[in-house]
Amino acid sequence: AHAAPAERTNEVPVLIGHRGASGTAPENTVAAFKDGRASGADFFEIDVQLSSDGVPFLFHDDTPARTTDVEEVFPGRANNPVTSFTWAELQQLDAGSYFSDKYVGERIPHLDDAAQVATTQTGVYIEIKSPVYSPGIEQVVADELRNDPTWSRLVAAEKIQVLSFDEASNRRFAAIAPEIELQQLTGVVPTRAVVESWATFADSVGTDYRVLTPQNVADVKGAGLILGVYTVNSPEAVQYSLDLGVDAVTTDFPIENQRFLQGQ
Ligand code: G3P
Ligand code: CA
Repeated sequence: AHAAPAERTNEVPVLIGHRGASGTAPENTVAAFKDGRASGADFFEIDVQLSSDGVPFLFHDDTPARTTDVEEVFPGRANNPVTSFTWAELQQLDAGSYFSDKYVGERIPHLDDAAQVATTQTGVYIEIKSPVYSPGIEQVVADELRNDPTWSRLVAAEKIQVLSFDEASNRRFAAIAPEIELQQLTGVVPTRAVVESWATFADSVGTDYRVLTPQNVADVKGAGLILGVYTVNSPEAVQYSLDLGVDAVTTDFPIENQRFLQGQ
């Protein structure tokens, strides 16, 4: 028989660094993942998409305009879909200088770069971003998690979760890799009936703390799901979320907020 797992209380929620630690380093870069790891947070979060030649890369936006030097490297293509670039092209972009000069030379990472930074203390939340523009991405991510030994070790240590706002993508992922923990993201928590339908394939719900109500909290927990919130940037907002009864908070500033939680 298994010993009962130690239960986390709402006073000490799980902490997740958003896009690595996007308040202190350029989002979705190895520098941000290292800040996430240095914070001692439970996870850092990444966004994954597929290049035009099928390589899983880490990037949040639909285009490279905001966070890269694409206009200098590929003039006229800044507002093209980021998924229309090949992996070789993506590797030519600077993804750090938009944040500050200190980060000039940061590259767009491959999915596997995140596994190299993660530890059994600080795992990875893998958000499948805009899967409609990355057809087949669920299979690609599942294959990486299963076949790459670094990812497999993290899965075995329960330090990997997969997330998406796209319910159809989550259902596909659950069918391909039911052993991986799965989160349904949503801007607003829907009705209890919808939340209960999510409980058939997901383990948790992630939502925007600013519009979360006590009824939402009751519905998610009543459906047997864990509740996470984003993007909680100040200790006051972390405390507000705790008081509502959430289980996990995603923050751009994991260093500051981990310090706050440990001082509780
Ligand atoms: O963890 C959820 C959060 O990352 C969702 O928002 O737009 O930053 O991907 P976004
Ligand atoms: Ca995300």
